[in-house]
Amino acid sequence: MQKIAESAVRRLEKSARSAAARAYAPYSRFPVGAAVLGGSGKIYSGCNVENSSFGLCNCAERTAIFSAISAGERSIRAVAVYTPTRLPTTPCGACRQVINEFGPEAAVVCVCDTKSRIETRLSALLPGAFGPGDLA
Ligand code: THU
Repeated sequence: MQKIAESAVRRLEKSARSAAARAYAPYSRFPVGAAVLGGSGKIYSGCNVENSSFGLCNCAERTAIFSAISAGERSIRAVAVYTPTRLPTTPCGACRQVINEFGPEAAVVCVCDTKSRIETRLSALLPGAFGPGDLA
């Protein structure tokens, strides 16, 4: 399992925190920021983008991943997510599935407004995932 350098984790966290300032979250008032480390070593950030048709709201994690893939990345080594909470929160089920597509073993780092943090792996958050290899 690939270890992510401490310096890269710090840069990811910083990028996720600043992306939250650009969230479009007028309905939930819950600004979230995310950043992903692509296979190339570049970092891509994203925020949640809500919609008056609530079902169309997009999480910060998926915004960041779609940005990375749109830029040409085909794998994801790590994801950081910042939520404006006292305890860190992990990516939702939909985002876990999208992370799995590009980084089944990606490191997932969850940070918040306190020193509390979660450092885990996508494979621990979504065991037994359905993925590209399951399509015959
Ligand atoms: N949200 C994220 O962007 N990422 C998460 O990990 C949790 C939830 C967003 C979706 C919605 O815009 C708002 O937070 C409240 O659920």
